[in-house]
Amino acid sequence: MKTPNRQSFSCNLILLNFLLSSLPLIQSTAGSGGATSGGATSIAFATLGRSSYGFDIYALPTTTTTIASPEEIRLTDGNSVNYNGYFPSSSSLSVFPLLPDQPDPTTHFIYVTERNGSSQIYLDALYGTLPLKTGSRSMLESFPSKSNQLQIRLVGGEQENGRVSMKDRPSLVGRSLIYVSTHEDPGEPRASWAAVFSTELATGLTRRLTPSGVADFSPAVSPSGIWTAVASYGEKGWDGDVEELGTDIYVFLTRDGSNRVKVIEHGGWPSWVDDSTLYFHRRCEDGWWSIFRASFNNIGEGELGSDSVVTQRVTPPGLHAFTPAASNANKSFIAVATRRPDSDFRHVELYDVDSKNFVELTRPIAPNTHHFNPFMSPDSNLIGYHKCRGGGGGGESNDLLLEKVRSPLPNVSLFRVDGSFPSYSPDGERIAYVKFPGLYVMNSNGSDIRVVSTRTAFSTAWDWKRKGVVYTSVGPTFASESTKVDIVSINVDDEDLSHKKLTLGGENNAFPSPSPDGKRVVFRSGRTGHKNLYIMDALNGEKDGLYQLTEGPWSDTMPNWSPNGEWIAFASDRENPGSGGFELFKIHPNGTGLQKVIQSGSGGRVNHPWFSPDGKHIVLTSDYAGVSAEPISNPHHFQPYGDIFVIKSDGSWIRRLTHNSYEDGTPTWIPKSMKPGNVEWPNGGLKCSFDDCHWLNISPNQESSTSSIRQCGSKS
Ligand SMILES: *[C@@H]1O[C@H](CO)[C@@H](O)[C@H](O)[C@H]1NC(C)=O
Ligand SMILES: *[C@@H]1O[C@H](CO)[C@@H](O)[C@H](O)[C@H]1NC(C)=O
Ligand SMILES: *[C@@H]1O[C@H](CO)[C@@H](O)[C@H](O)[C@H]1NC(C)=O
Ligand SMILES: *[C@@H]1O[C@H](CO)[C@@H](O)[C@H](O)[C@H]1NC(C)=O
Ligand SMILES: *[C@@H]1O[C@H](CO)[C@@H](O)[C@H](O)[C@H]1NC(C)=O
Repeated sequence: MKTPNRQSFSCNLILLNFLLSSLPLIQSTAGSGGATSGGATSIAFATLGRSSYGFDIYALPTTTTTIASPEEIRLTDGNSVNYNGYFPSSSSLSVFPLLPDQPDPTTHFIYVTERNGSSQIYLDALYGTLPLKTGSRSMLESFPSKSNQLQIRLVGGEQENGRVSMKDRPSLVGRSLIYVSTHEDPGEPRASWAAVFSTELATGLTRRLTPSGVADFSPAVSPSGIWTAVASYGEKGWDGDVEELGTDIYVFLTRDGSNRVKVIEHGGWPSWVDDSTLYFHRRCEDGWWSIFRASFNNIGEGELGSDSVVTQRVTPPGLHAFTPAASNANKSFIAVATRRPDSDFRHVELYDVDSKNFVELTRPIAPNTHHFNPFMSPDSNLIGYHKCRGGGGGGESNDLLLEKVRSPLPNVSLFRVDGSFPSYSPDGERIAYVKFPGLYVMNSNGSDIRVVSTRTAFSTAWDWKRKGVVYTSVGPTFASESTKVDIVSINVDDEDLSHKKLTLGGENNAFPSPSPDGKRVVFRSGRTGHKNLYIMDALNGEKDGLYQLTEGPWSDTMPNWSPNGEWIAFASDRENPGSGGFELFKIHPNGTGLQKVIQSGSGGRVNHPWFSPDGKHIVLTSDYAGVSAEPISNPHHFQPYGDIFVIKSDGSWIRRLTHNSYEDGTPTWIPKSMKPGNVEWPNGGLKCSFDDCHWLNISPNQESSTSSIRQCGSKS
């Protein structure tokens, strides 16, 4: 193997920000409770499931079946959340000034990592004698150890000068990284920001390959590097779907995005075998997710025979198969993720496309663990995937109670709280949050976690004047107007923690928000058969009288009282009742001045508003930026489009704060600014306890499956 010439690459080394030793680990800074000064503010929010992901990239030799008891190789370092890996071809090393003093590594791979609070793409190089070709047991056990692993950040983090984006699905072609990024605002509400970019690693020169006004997901580069395939809506845009996106597959020149052509109607997650064959997934009419192969006449660079595309269903009905990975070295098999009717877990399997046999790779090793998004080495000897590292993974914990998230706004720090509906006490020292079922209070440095109610509670809010008083509602969530839900106040400093019930009738009374003078509480109630807003006395509740603030046959909900007392912001579907769409309004507490603040496109969602301490901004959760990845490539998220945004209170300005493909929600503006830092769960948290996509739990009716093969196969 060739050692790159150090001299000629010295300039690149500086530009690349090489880190020639293992990068520092995330440090737990237990002091995040301290307030900072100087106009800065902080926002906290929740992300469904994220704290228990603990993903690392693992690999198994494809010869696994010949080993009596195969062991997985963990490739990534156990820090943070690492996923969506890719094995570059070895030729990428000879052009890439990887390591001036060392021979080429035994293997190298790139992946997405969320370490240090933002999405980044890393390249790791592993040294030592690897078992990658033989699958010999003893060699598997000897690897890896920290001293023979090098990490290089390719894009992301501090390199971006405060710019924040989600990165996804990286591929390396020569000296260029091809990947998804969400850093460009398409300027349209409810349009995805996901687009494919190419970054020349030596210079940082970044070029957008996706046309403007279009979103592209799941890019895959062909073995020659000439072509890139993506899943895309094209011009038609996102229709709000959160299961299968209904994308089409487009192919374009990797060089500059030109010669873009739609090759397959309805498909996602392309993976190339050679420059005229690719696999992809699609949910068939018979209900099963299945792998398809598409072949086209490839007449060399610049021309793709899109008229002559032949597609064929490859995997049979009877199991879900998706996220295919193929290799040029051995065209007789592919790797896929599956959900079999007899398993609640997602596994990686090989599928022999000639003999039509599956070989289960991961179920024999870890039957009760989800395995995601397989990828194959160019020589087809190794299958990579990611899964939760679980207990004893040997890395740093990802069980963060509070995680610092990189914020695109210099004067707003961002925290992810591992609990829903977080709210901070007016002095910023304590947090109330919900973990179903139950309401908890802790210090804002994560110490002294206490359960203050074991009943099903949702949104929380602290009284501005009476120390220790928290408002919440108890009863089922997402329920009908007549469901028994009442608002209670709890003094969390009282020993008996008694609930004071403030509403009487139990008619879905929820989302309390106290006035800044501590005298009144606004909430939503379904007592008329519709959800509208009401105001009651903060101490004695509705028995001292009730003022109906809004009235109409629609849903007004999630009110938040501004810190200067002048406004109440709330979400409402009043312009299209029952449609599922919610827009943001504000109204004076005396019922005058109703204004629409923001709407997310047509039929979109704006929810959970919360005013900034100075009342000039509102933080909210919305589908304003659509979805950022194919939902099937992630664990379950009910609303994978959820991201956190900040707007001016008059709606004249909006900024996206979070960039990921998860469900972010229930933001709160912290009354005091918090120093950024991570806080770990005292006892390790709930590792790996997340759900796979709920819609994969369903086994379609097997009777109709035979005829549907043809149906599905003929679709394109
Ligand atoms: C992560 O953040 C810490 C503290 O801010 C910093 O010292 C470290 O260099 C960062 N690491 C990376 C890889 O950016
Ligand atoms: C390709 O893979 C198949 C199935 O694992 C195997 O039987 C065959 O020997 C392989 N071919 C080559 C050329 O490695
Ligand atoms: C951030 O600071 C700028 C300049 O001081 C100010 O105009 C802006 O309103 C602040 N933004 C937020 C969200 O507080
Ligand atoms: C956390 O905050 C509490 C209350 O402010 C304080 O008593 C405690 O010492 C802090 N713990 C750490 C580890 O900073
Ligand atoms: C209603 O309240 C707003 C702001 O609190 C105030 O400006 C307005 O004069 C009030 N209107 C009436 C009719 O009281």
